[in-house]
Amino acid sequence: MIFNYLFSFVCLLSITNGQFNKEHLTKLQGLECNEPSITLHIFSGTPNPVWKIDIKQLSQIKKLAYETLFNNNDNNNTLLSKPTTRVMGYHGFTISCSSNQYVFVNGLSPIENLLLLGGRRHLSASIIHHVKDHLGEIMSEITSIQSDNADCNHVPIKGTDAVPVYDPKTDDNGCFVTKESSNNCYAYGTDIVTNTFPQPGRGSGKKWSLNTCEDMGNSSIRDGLVYNGTTLPTGKPEKGHFVALLIWPETNFHWIRMDANGFWSHKPGGTPVRNKDNRDLPITDPSKSDFSPWTQFCSYYVAQPSVLKIN
Ligand SMILES: *[C@@H]1O[C@H](CO)[C@@H](O)[C@H](O)[C@H]1NC(C)=O
Ligand SMILES: *[C@@H]1O[C@H](CO)[C@@H](O)[C@H](O)[C@H]1NC(C)=O
Ligand SMILES: *[C@@H]1O[C@H](CO)[C@@H](O)[C@H](O)[C@H]1NC(C)=O
Repeated sequence: MIFNYLFSFVCLLSITNGQFNKEHLTKLQGLECNEPSITLHIFSGTPNPVWKIDIKQLSQIKKLAYETLFNNNDNNNTLLSKPTTRVMGYHGFTISCSSNQYVFVNGLSPIENLLLLGGRRHLSASIIHHVKDHLGEIMSEITSIQSDNADCNHVPIKGTDAVPVYDPKTDDNGCFVTKESSNNCYAYGTDIVTNTFPQPGRGSGKKWSLNTCEDMGNSSIRDGLVYNGTTLPTGKPEKGHFVALLIWPETNFHWIRMDANGFWSHKPGGTPVRNKDNRDLPITDPSKSDFSPWTQFCSYYVAQPSVLKIN
């Protein structure tokens, strides 16, 4: 009896502190319930955040954990992150079916990222930031697995009329990441997730017809954008945020937006959101940055998400 008790105590200790390994995987594969709860171990003064996931998400986690460990038998893949040894703040997640059926996850960043992403509705931005800071930087590779997040399907998902914060993982519920291939520069620039690869003019009834500053600009004005001239804006508009239109002559258009930090960011087509230009430099002046072949700088506009008709 005493031996048993000690054994499980030691076992529990090693499980709660150790890096996710094959033993944990076995435990994980053995978890069976319809509504597992996830605990984010982070707080010291108040109860940890807890939320439910469903059976589908559990099997997604099992599958990803299996694949990650299976492809990592040399323990030398960046996916197997160094487990955090923090005492204060983030130190892992528990996936739990009951008080004696659970597994602790630490040091397996694909799973940690997936859990964090699944719980982001229950977590404040500062918590998400903190946890992300103590995980590897591989969130965007993982998010495609989370493709049927219902949150991102109820479109349009609009940012507020305040100047957006540059943080693709949380901007509009992270849907520019989750629905990366369905949202383009116009969606991101206006801060509205449509999942339709929106086109200037289409939302207000008449899509653009020429790849020119004038036609593209007029189309976006019909959608509700407000022309703001060609002088680099400073500060912020009363409502909404500044965007810039660029043209790849006779070929394509591009939109870039100014974020709360004063820098500009963009989402080239179905690729990830970024805050650098072609030369990998931060964007401080869209008319001077390198967006070739979008070489023609047109002008600035004010985008106020609440009034825009983007589709
Ligand atoms: C792990 O992989 C890296 C990059 O592929 C390599 O440089 C390193 O030598 C490997 N380490 C071990 C212990 O195999
Ligand atoms: C754009 O709008 C202006 C002002 O309404 C108009 O004069 C011009 O003809 C329009 N250009 C195009 C290409 O529709
Ligand atoms: C651009 O927007 C700013 C802030 O709202 C405003 O002060 C400025 O007059 C606008 N410029 C033009 C040309 O509309």
